[in-house]
Amino acid sequence: MTSPVSPREIGVDPAAEALLASVVADAREGQYATYHRLRTMAPLLRTSNGTLVLTRYEDCATAIRHRDLGAARPTVWSTHGRAGASLHSLVGILPFSDPPDHTRLRRAVASAFTADAVERLRASVTRHAETCVAGLADHGDFMAAVARPLTLHVTAELLGVPAADRPFLATVAQAAAALVEPFTDEPTLARTAAAARELYAYFTDVLAEKRRHPAPDLLSRLESSRDESGLDTLEVVALAATLFVAGCNAAHMLGNGLRALLDTPAQFALLRRRPDLTASAVEEMLRYDPPVQVMARRARTALTLAGLEIEAGALVVAVLAAANRDPDRFTDPDRFDIIRDEGPHLSFAGGAHYCLGSQLARLQAEIVFSRLPAVWGRIEPAGPAVLRPESTMRRLQSLPVRVHAA
Ligand code: HEM
Repeated sequence: MTSPVSPREIGVDPAAEALLASVVADAREGQYATYHRLRTMAPLLRTSNGTLVLTRYEDCATAIRHRDLGAARPTVWSTHGRAGASLHSLVGILPFSDPPDHTRLRRAVASAFTADAVERLRASVTRHAETCVAGLADHGDFMAAVARPLTLHVTAELLGVPAADRPFLATVAQAAAALVEPFTDEPTLARTAAAARELYAYFTDVLAEKRRHPAPDLLSRLESSRDESGLDTLEVVALAATLFVAGCNAAHMLGNGLRALLDTPAQFALLRRRPDLTASAVEEMLRYDPPVQVMARRARTALTLAGLEIEAGALVVAVLAAANRDPDRFTDPDRFDIIRDEGPHLSFAGGAHYCLGSQLARLQAEIVFSRLPAVWGRIEPAGPAVLRPESTMRRLQSLPVRVHAA
């Protein structure tokens, strides 16, 4: 239950704002301790530029579902404010769109992500996961051997991206994903913008090819149903690029999830003994260390949220990862506990923008985390995990492991 708002919570708190700046300035291992401090010091933090930052579960859950809080484009909510100038366009990017465009865009692809549609991918995901998991011995880096290749393969198969193009696209997608980072240095910003342009150019060509030679894949369906769905060329290209980048990002829940298991050997042993706990373990991985840590929304009208007056146009930032560790919502929230059964986390956000690929991400994770203990009798860290220096996303660059046959 959200407690009443105290005057201290609604003002600008310079110490809390400095703390927030340190969280976004560089991703560090101490991120979760900082979220706790922020939630305690200023659970409703209004920064000096008027942005409201939320760290309590109830407040974040309300904000992400609020009808009057719309999409926030990264160019606007980023303080650097320069990405938009160098990007091709932000038209047609689902998470940055509002109705009626958002409704039209989402409807055009939703049928590919229903529970039934995802279930039909199970056999193919399993086959590929088995190959990747078996190949772990040769690589030793879980991200390079399993997480990235699996999610790349699954996303590319679903969309219909030719196999030969996938390695190039994977690199470009990884760079483009940094678009959502609020603070970026010039070289990263230039790489991000260049990557976004490359993705658009690539998907423009591929979609033209799908028009000439349709295949049984999502891009061909999107292209052939354009009249019916009312999407223009740029929107279809943007949708394709968005789905590709978002799909590849599922790699990071696999990395963060395995890392949590490695850091908590008793929980890994429990999962090994009880494969029936895999689905519950995947939910706990998502709660405990989500790949998307923060979600921004913009007030479409003046509104009241958590007892606060919000002006039209103001930004509201829901720190989803902090909400998932709110002690008022989850018992002993910093404990990784695969049999925890305390209701939903916010890692897939909520409301109109609820993650379209949540079922597909869960399917991949359930298959990987049931295959890993079945194939490898022992899995242990073989060096420090390397976290990318980001704050909106929490992504591992590498996760070195040593495996021993079952
Ligand atoms: C574990 C992995 C994943 C996580 C943690 C995740 C998280 C999220 C979150 C937090 C949002 C909300 C964005 C917002 O509120 O504006 C979102 C939206 C979205 N996700 Fe995911 N996602 C994951 C995997 C995937 C996959 C595999 C796909 C498949 C292609 C996907 C496609 C999308 C799309 C298209 C949206 C935008 C939906 C909209 O704005 O209507 N995601 N995701």
